[in-house]
Amino acid sequence: MRNYSLRKHNTFGLDVYADRFLEYQSEEELLDLIRSGEVAPPFLHIGGGSNLLFTKDYDGTVLHSRIAGINILAEDEDTLVVRVGAGIVWDDFVRLCVERGWQGVENLSLIPGEVGAAAVQNIGAYGVEAKDVIVSVETVDAEGRRKIYAKEECDYSYRHSLFKEEGMKSVFITYVRFRLNKKPRFSLDYRALREALASCPHIDLKTVREAVVHIRQSKLPDPKVLGNAGSFFMNPILSRPLFETLARAYPDIPFYEVDARRVKVPAGWLIEQCGWKGKNLGPAGVYEKQALVLVNQGGATGADIVALAKAVQESVYKKFGVEIRPEVLFV
Ligand code: EPU
Repeated sequence: MRNYSLRKHNTFGLDVYADRFLEYQSEEELLDLIRSGEVAPPFLHIGGGSNLLFTKDYDGTVLHSRIAGINILAEDEDTLVVRVGAGIVWDDFVRLCVERGWQGVENLSLIPGEVGAAAVQNIGAYGVEAKDVIVSVETVDAEGRRKIYAKEECDYSYRHSLFKEEGMKSVFITYVRFRLNKKPRFSLDYRALREALASCPHIDLKTVREAVVHIRQSKLPDPKVLGNAGSFFMNPILSRPLFETLARAYPDIPFYEVDARRVKVPAGWLIEQCGWKGKNLGPAGVYEKQALVLVNQGGATGADIVALAKAVQESVYKKFGVEIRPEVLFV
């Protein structure tokens, strides 16, 4: 389809256009598109558009997977490996896992986006990351070659993977394989989640999912109501000396230990300290309940969001000497 509106394909709700939009239902259909020369650069492969900021129209082809299917590949007494189509909505997959009693992704409930993008972004919440359950990632490249990347090859770290690197733009994820547990081992280290479950007499997959959904709904805006892309920035990882200097000046600073040399601090806290929480710059705003989320108050353009992001970054740098970097991909 030509001159296609991307409004429904970006959760900021920005009114931008792509020259062409190609959607495929299966790996075979993707290979057919490649063979017939339809997948020619420039192209951009998107998922649910929940981590994208279009700064202008896209002069090229936007590709989107609708590959479905959830199949069990292997199973033993304790675990199972499932192969999941990249086009499946992430939370539909989580809901199905919880219904079937498969443990591993319940802390990742309600994260917007699709399964393929979850493996690109290494989505994470409440102490769990996608990489903790990924076994391997199936791909097809723009030349039509298939390759399966084992988890160890995917270079996973905090909100990062091999698939985010510049040279990987022409590698498309078709399926992701996950290992899930049949016998629950809950991850309840995250304080907010532990607290939400404290009054629960019995903890099971369903109660954990409900608690996560409840926390998210109370803090994060629903993109259907208020355009946003979840956390706009990544939480910065600081060297220990820099962190210690900050902690002396701001004894209340929250933090997560990374390793002996590094400490992660919540960007939301830094932004709130700069007075941005609930403030607007034109039609772009900093969400009133979670300062890490930038929102489209209505009619914002990508440039409006970028202007706000820059102003926020500058304030944080001026006050704390800390650089915060976007988690959202600018297109
Ligand atoms: N905080 C503030 N003010 C704010 C926001 C947060 O002081 O406006 C403080 C909180 O009080 C808390 C700390 O910062 O002490 C952490 O806040 P929160 O639990 O809300 O988590 P986060 O670090 O802001 C990260 C992820 C989220 C994920 C949550 C829960 C990133 C960039 N974000 O946010 O992921 O849901 O932890 O695990 O790592 C996303 O990536 O889009 C996303 C929503």
